[in-house]
Amino acid sequence: MKTFTTRRAIREYLCAQGSATIGFVPTMGALHNGHLSLIAQAKQANDITVCSIFVNPTQFNDAKDLKKYPRPIEADMAKLELAGCDILFNPAVNEMYDGNEQWHLDVGRLEYLLEGEFRPGHYQGVMQVVFKLLDIVKPTNLYMGQKDYQQIMVVNKMIELLNIPVNIVMCPIEREADGLAMSSRNVHLTAEDRQHALVLSKTLNWVKDNFDRLNIAELQQQAMDKLAAEEGVEPEYFRIVDGKMLLHASENTQIIVALTAARVGKTRLLDNVLIR
Ligand code: PAF
Repeated sequence: MKTFTTRRAIREYLCAQGSATIGFVPTMGALHNGHLSLIAQAKQANDITVCSIFVNPTQFNDAKDLKKYPRPIEADMAKLELAGCDILFNPAVNEMYDGNEQWHLDVGRLEYLLEGEFRPGHYQGVMQVVFKLLDIVKPTNLYMGQKDYQQIMVVNKMIELLNIPVNIVMCPIEREADGLAMSSRNVHLTAEDRQHALVLSKTLNWVKDNFDRLNIAELQQQAMDKLAAEEGVEPEYFRIVDGKMLLHASENTQIIVALTAARVGKTRLLDNVLIR
């Protein structure tokens, strides 16, 4: 695997590869099998697979969260080598941002719903860095995990609005054997938190199984009650929405997704399930 830390060096290298197709997996590191499944999908469908590891400061609205974000770069590099990743882009913050640059792209309500309510400004930071990364890597295909469902919808909207020539591929959530969605933040869970956290996937599955039996308002309310009843779990939201704009779904909506976020101990977790 070749590693680049400057935009110029990776750009020069990729330009020299001519018309090779590029599959790109942007990450913030602390890689787990969810990330590695994205690398596997990218490898299958592209000539070159590029992964970036960059803990992007502009998408954190809590300085403590940024500080404690795990950064096991050596272990990550070993995992990428083993997965057969061709190129790692691992820039420093000052390589990606110089000075006080401004960024704002209006993607409408998508930015303010759900995660946007609890993490104001988060998606502007995500779009800002993904835009830069796409401009550097210029991939054919961009691989992102369904676990951050709203993130994919926001990035998709940005790609559409800015006419960026890339195909976005949403890859399914990878789960532990007991159902916990894989996440870089899981390392912060204590053994007890880890058990309590299972209520997220169990509740999502319960909603999926009961979708034809109860109406959406009842399902949302009962799901919030189930989450709140679990020790150590503080639910932030549980919503059943249309899969594109993330606005209210009705029983007739074509793509329906249930999304949730909760604090489990000191860790904030996300999960979701496609209901149809
Ligand atoms: O999902 C993530 O890890 C990040 O939000 C991303 C897409 C790499 C941008 O920093």
